[in-house]
Amino acid sequence: MGSVGAKEVPELLNAEGRRIDGRRLDELRPISIKIAPLTRADGSAFVEWGENKVMAAVYGPREVHPRHLMETDKAIVQCRYNMAAFSVDERKRPGLDRRSQEISKVITEAFESVIFTEEFPKTSIDIYIEVLQANAGTRCAGLVAASLALADAGIPMADLVPAVAVGKVAGRIALDLKKEEDNFGEADLPMALVPQSGRLVLLQMEGHLNRGELREALDLGVTGCREIYRKMREALRARYEAAGGAEEAEAAA
Ligand code: CDP
Repeated sequence: MGSVGAKEVPELLNAEGRRIDGRRLDELRPISIKIAPLTRADGSAFVEWGENKVMAAVYGPREVHPRHLMETDKAIVQCRYNMAAFSVDERKRPGLDRRSQEISKVITEAFESVIFTEEFPKTSIDIYIEVLQANAGTRCAGLVAASLALADAGIPMADLVPAVAVGKVAGRIALDLKKEEDNFGEADLPMALVPQSGRLVLLQMEGHLNRGELREALDLGVTGCREIYRKMREALRARYEAAGGAEEAEAAA
């Protein structure tokens, strides 16, 4: 333990190059995915990623509310990211604060660029992201969950959108920061990738990186996103194989 002023700073990287939870610098936290946990939504997904727990629900294409937001030539995408009051250590004041509004906006923009909105004029595609437990990287976990929920709803898109945050921890570039690393690290760089085109549809940065570090962070993030992409596809495949199997069994009965 070191200390900065009165704050105790945990040792973020040990002599063996292991992080606070034993991970290597290029290692993701464990991810588990459940597709379609909600029956009322058109599509849904629940993602547990490290200590993050995030639910996403998708409705639509459906009627636009409020109506003045309607676009005659395409669907609009509306996304609401919300953190439950009980999701963090110190109770968060409920409701849409500035941080949630900013995250909702960047996630909306990411999805606007991959959903084929022109196929559904005059409608709305509504995405709800509820963070039930937070431990850094919730906007990325939210994007992953929402992307899977959109796929579950059958919304046509160019691709799934894996996301991950990369950062700088004890002077080194590290994949998928957890809370202590986000709090005491030197930089945090969430990103979201469209794997087939290699396009980044979300890229934000807090803290400081030099040009070489930025390049290293982007490379590590893209590799991390591709690993998450594989897990996302596996989860969807497993879900539809199971659903297909059940249908076949029903048809055979
Ligand atoms: O969650 P994400 O990393 O995308 O966003 P952030 O604004 O960098 O927040 C990092 C973490 O700080 C969150 O995941 C929460 O664990 C925590 N946090 C909190 O404890 N209370 C808040 N009001 C907001 C965030």
